[in-house]
Amino acid sequence: MKCVGLIGWRGMVGSVLLKRMEEENDFLNIRPIFFSTSQCGQDIPIIKHVLPDTLKDAYDIDLLKQMDIIITCQGSLYTQEIYPRLKQYSWKGYWIDAASLLRMENDSTIILDPVNYGVIKNSISNGIKTFIGGNCTVSLMLMSLGGLFQRELIEWISFSTYQAASGAGARHMIELLEQMGMLYNSISQDLSNPSLSILDIERKVTQISRSDEFPIKNFSIPLAGSLIPWIDVEMNNGQTREEWKGQSETNKILGFKNKFLIDGTCVRIGSLRCHSQSFIIKLKKDLSLENIEDIIANHNDWVNIIPNTVEDTLSELTPSAVTGTLKIPIGRLKKLNMGTKYISAFTVGDQLLWGAAEPLRRMLNILIN
Ligand code: HSE
Repeated sequence: MKCVGLIGWRGMVGSVLLKRMEEENDFLNIRPIFFSTSQCGQDIPIIKHVLPDTLKDAYDIDLLKQMDIIITCQGSLYTQEIYPRLKQYSWKGYWIDAASLLRMENDSTIILDPVNYGVIKNSISNGIKTFIGGNCTVSLMLMSLGGLFQRELIEWISFSTYQAASGAGARHMIELLEQMGMLYNSISQDLSNPSLSILDIERKVTQISRSDEFPIKNFSIPLAGSLIPWIDVEMNNGQTREEWKGQSETNKILGFKNKFLIDGTCVRIGSLRCHSQSFIIKLKKDLSLENIEDIIANHNDWVNIIPNTVEDTLSELTPSAVTGTLKIPIGRLKKLNMGTKYISAFTVGDQLLWGAAEPLRRMLNILIN
């Protein structure tokens, strides 16, 4: 059995990964070694199909070198420190990483096997050892529109995203909830006071959200009751880095160089862990909506067409309906006034599952099977 080192399994993405690996009995097929950056020597937690053991030191290069496969959700700083050192020692194992640091390197492959299984298999045959999870927004877009990409029907896509707090990290999620709590607490008595109008209450809420006591350490501005139309750092062309990833990562995942034109605006909203995206797509051909829906629906086992009705949309195409599941609903599909090759679509996906953890455990399974 392959010896698999797990690092960063206690964090948000790591714990979702562990849960999925337990659910799918992945631990039956590997010899897992649990590493820790801070608690080596302590007992590992109780995990289905895993024998009791102690945590190993995540900086112990001699031990890491003995792993056939390393999966890390520890973040880019850890990757930056450890990966080059392992390579220095000519480590021959496979590195599976949730962090973005190595994503665009020439000798790495971005993993999303329902979309790029062929690219992944070719990479393995060509001796690639570094497999990196994609940006969550990009992965969720590809899971939803994979059929149109596979058939090369897309001329361009313009997106608007509605990204969850979890994409920014656990502390940001906590801060969003603190913001919500503070807003509610400041007006909870007022809600049942008939002498106050909703605009009186709103004024109070707005004042609190602009006050010095409002918790904004992580987001730097209020998110609850608002939104943030900027994610990640500035590029030199007006895009944010999150927007830049749309085209660059998509093309790399599919094994192309800028074949598909993709651009838009990425926005943080007050959703907890589901990213949603609205697409305007220019197709290369005028296809019927039925045909488009068939192509999308037949691409993978998780994508699901939601009929463009109010009932279906409200019951199945929202973060509250999708959170905690592997479902990739896509709906609001319609032809646009701009012409018969223009369509719109809306999709929702759990950014911690398909957006982060799931492609990692599936890559592990590709390597061990
Ligand atoms: N960059 C994403 C976000 C997170 O900020 O939502 C996951 O790739």
